[in-house]
Amino acid sequence: MKVVFSLLCICFPLVASGNYSVVDFGADPNGETDSTQSFLKAWASACSSVTPATISVPPGKFLIKKAVFRGPCSNTAITIEMNGTLIAPSDYRELGGSGNWLLFVKVSGLSINGGTLDGQGANFWACEKNCPAAARSITFNYAMDVVINGLTSINSKNSHIVINGCENVTVQQVTVVAPDQSPNTDGIHVQMSSGVTITNTSIRTGDDCISIGPGATNLWIQSIECGPGHGISIGSLGKDLVEEGVKNVTVKDVVFTGTQNGFRIKSWARPSNGFAKQVLFQDAIMKNVRYPIIIDQNYCPNTKGCPSQSSGVKINQVTYRNIQGTSTTKVAMKFDCSVSNPCKDIKLEDVGLTYRENPAQLTCVNTDGITGLALTSSCS
Ligand SMILES: *[C@@H]1O[C@H](CO)[C@@H](O)[C@H](O)[C@H]1NC(C)=O
Ligand SMILES: *[C@@H]1O[C@H](CO)[C@@H](O)[C@H](O)[C@H]1NC(C)=O
Ligand SMILES: *[C@@H]1O[C@H](CO)[C@@H](O)[C@H](O)[C@H]1NC(C)=O
Ligand SMILES: *[C@@H]1O[C@H](CO)[C@@H](O)[C@H](O)[C@H]1NC(C)=O
Ligand SMILES: *[C@@H]1O[C@H](CO)[C@@H](O)[C@H](O)[C@H]1NC(C)=O
Repeated sequence: MKVVFSLLCICFPLVASGNYSVVDFGADPNGETDSTQSFLKAWASACSSVTPATISVPPGKFLIKKAVFRGPCSNTAITIEMNGTLIAPSDYRELGGSGNWLLFVKVSGLSINGGTLDGQGANFWACEKNCPAAARSITFNYAMDVVINGLTSINSKNSHIVINGCENVTVQQVTVVAPDQSPNTDGIHVQMSSGVTITNTSIRTGDDCISIGPGATNLWIQSIECGPGHGISIGSLGKDLVEEGVKNVTVKDVVFTGTQNGFRIKSWARPSNGFAKQVLFQDAIMKNVRYPIIIDQNYCPNTKGCPSQSSGVKINQVTYRNIQGTSTTKVAMKFDCSVSNPCKDIKLEDVGLTYRENPAQLTCVNTDGITGLALTSSCS
C-alpha cells in the first residue's frame, strides 16, 4: 500500500498539471552537461499526454546535442515555455552531419514561447575541408498549427529557422542574429508550406533574412527589419525540372538596412515547370541597399548544370508598391528574366529609389512590359 501511495504522489501531480519541467527530467542549466535526453523525455511525456501539456525550460543554459521531437502526439496543444537558452555543441562533428540540430516532425498544435537558441556556429563557418552537412538550428517538418512567439536565434551553423511541408505556422516577435559574414545563415526559410505568417520580426544575418522556396503558398510577411543580410528572396526556384510553384505571397512593412538585396526573385537558368505568381511587395524602406528590386533568372553558380541557360520558371503578377529609399548601385531595379519565359504583369507603383540623390535606374531584359514606370525611368 505504501509503495502505491508514494508512486501516486510522484506521478499524479506531474500528469494532472500537464506541466513538465525539463529540470524534473534531469536537465542541468549549467551550459555544460548534456541535457538532450532530459528534453526528449519531457517531450515524450508531453506528447503522450491526452490533455494539453506544457514543457517548461527555466532560465539557464542547456546543452543539447541533437534532438528530434517527433509527432504525431496524443494531444494538439503542447506549449514549450522557454525562459532559458539552448546551446548547440560548438564542435559541429557532434551533430553527426545530420543537417539539423533541433527538429520537430509531424507535430500538430505546438507553441514555442520565448527562449534563445544559440547555434554556436563560429567553428562551422570557419570549416574549409571535410565539413559535414551544416545544421539548421530549428526545423519544422510536416507540422501543423504551430506558433513561434518571442524566440531569439543566434549564430546558427546554417539556416536559423526552417519551415518545410507545414500548414498554418505563425512566427512572431522573433529575433535572429548572426554576423553579416557568416555563410548560409538564412534567417527564416519557408518551403512546401501553406498559411505561414511571419510578423514583427527582426533579422540580422549573413544570408537571406527570409528565403522562400518552392511550394510556398499563402505566405504573409509583415513588419520586418532586415539587415545586415541578403534581403527577402523568393528562390532559388527552378533547380528541379518538376517543382512546386510559389503562389500568393505578401510582404509588407519592411525596413532593409545595408542589405545586399531588398526584394529578390531568383531562379536557375535551367528547364523547370516552377513558377512564382501573385506576389505583392508593399511599403518598404531601403537604406543603402545594393539591389533594392531584382529579378534574376540567370542563376547558375560556376556556370555548371544549366544546359540551355534559360529558366523555365514563369514569373507572373508581381507588384512593387510604395518602395522608397536609397540604393548603393545606379541600377536599383533590375529585371533580368528568362528568354524562354519572359516575366509577365510586373507592376511598379509609387517606387521612389535614389542613387546618390538622383533617381535610380532600371534595366529590363525579357519582360513582357512593366506597368507604372515613373516618367524618369525607362526600360533599357
Ligand atoms: C510550469 O512549471 C514551471 C516551474 O514550476 C512554472 O514556472 C511555470 O509557470 C508553469 N507553467 C504552467 C503553464 O503551468
Ligand atoms: C518564464 O517567464 C514567464 C514570463 O516572463 C513567467 O511567467 C514564467 O513563470 C517563467 N517560467 C519559468 C519556468 O521560469
Ligand atoms: C492555426 O493554428 C492556430 C494555433 O494552433 C490555431 O489557433 C488556429 O485555429 C489554426 N487555424 C486554422 C485555420 O486551422
Ligand atoms: C506587432 O506587435 C505590435 C505590438 O505587440 C502589435 O500592435 C502589432 O499589431 C504587431 N504587428 C503585426 C503585423 O503583427
Ligand atoms: C492569400 O494568402 C492569404 C494569407 O497570406 C490568405 O488570407 C488569402 O485568402 C489568400 N488568397 C487566396 C486568393 O488564396
